[in-house]
Amino acid sequence: MPVGIFDSGLGGLTVFSEIRKRMPGQPLLYLGDNKHTPYGVRDAEDIYRLTVQNTQALFDRGCDLVILACNTASAVALKRMQETWIPKDKRVLGVFVPMIEAVSERMWGDNSPPREVTVNQLALFATPATVASRAFQRELSFRAIGVDVEAQPCGGLVDALEMNDLELAEAMVHSHVSALLRRMPKPDAAVLGCTHYPILEHVFQEALGPEISVYSQGKLVAASLEDYLQRHPEMVGAAGPTRCLTSGDPKDVSIAATRFLGHSVQFESLEG
Ligand code: DGL
Repeated sequence: MPVGIFDSGLGGLTVFSEIRKRMPGQPLLYLGDNKHTPYGVRDAEDIYRLTVQNTQALFDRGCDLVILACNTASAVALKRMQETWIPKDKRVLGVFVPMIEAVSERMWGDNSPPREVTVNQLALFATPATVASRAFQRELSFRAIGVDVEAQPCGGLVDALEMNDLELAEAMVHSHVSALLRRMPKPDAAVLGCTHYPILEHVFQEALGPEISVYSQGKLVAASLEDYLQRHPEMVGAAGPTRCLTSGDPKDVSIAATRFLGHSVQFESLEG
């Protein structure tokens, strides 16, 4: 029984590869909805519908646990899915909480009341839909007191990364970072709140300067998943192959994914 990993496109591969490094024996089933990427410029209803449809596709292929390796889906759709849709024997986890637990200096799964933390000024870079949802601020307020969050919607960045136009993507990072620093000149830390962005973590770091710590999700989500599976061994399941599926053209997506990650990744069609 593989753990399902879902993203609107290639971005979730940054989470997928960190999970593979940390838990090489854990079978995974990755699904990229490349046909409908990007999600970050869609409205909430559309994001909910597509996220439910793709999560169901992973349930149908034997996954009992699905990670939404997409901040946009986690921010916009997850709460509603948990309240109204997820079947009792299935679990869906987002990628926000592990990052917020790290920012708020908590152990994985620590749900104690909010408290003061070291970070006071926090820069958030995310898709327009994630920023508009304010889900990051909501989840953070359950865990930390007195953190000012300044959010920068990074319109266009996911499209540039999906097209492997790194020159354009790097220029966009510089312009989004400058726009944020005009409003919050000295953040203590910055959060890359989109799973596509870790590919350009070094560019964010360079644009922000060395004194600002940058949190990115891959390693944090992998560590928190390992902890979750230790606490829920029934979700580990039997050994099996790891596969990558796409709603797009598997040949094109394999080429784009290989360029994106810098090593070979082969995709199969979701349609089978
Ligand atoms: N990787 C998705 C995220 O983390 C990108 C969303 C999009 O498709 O715009 O938000």
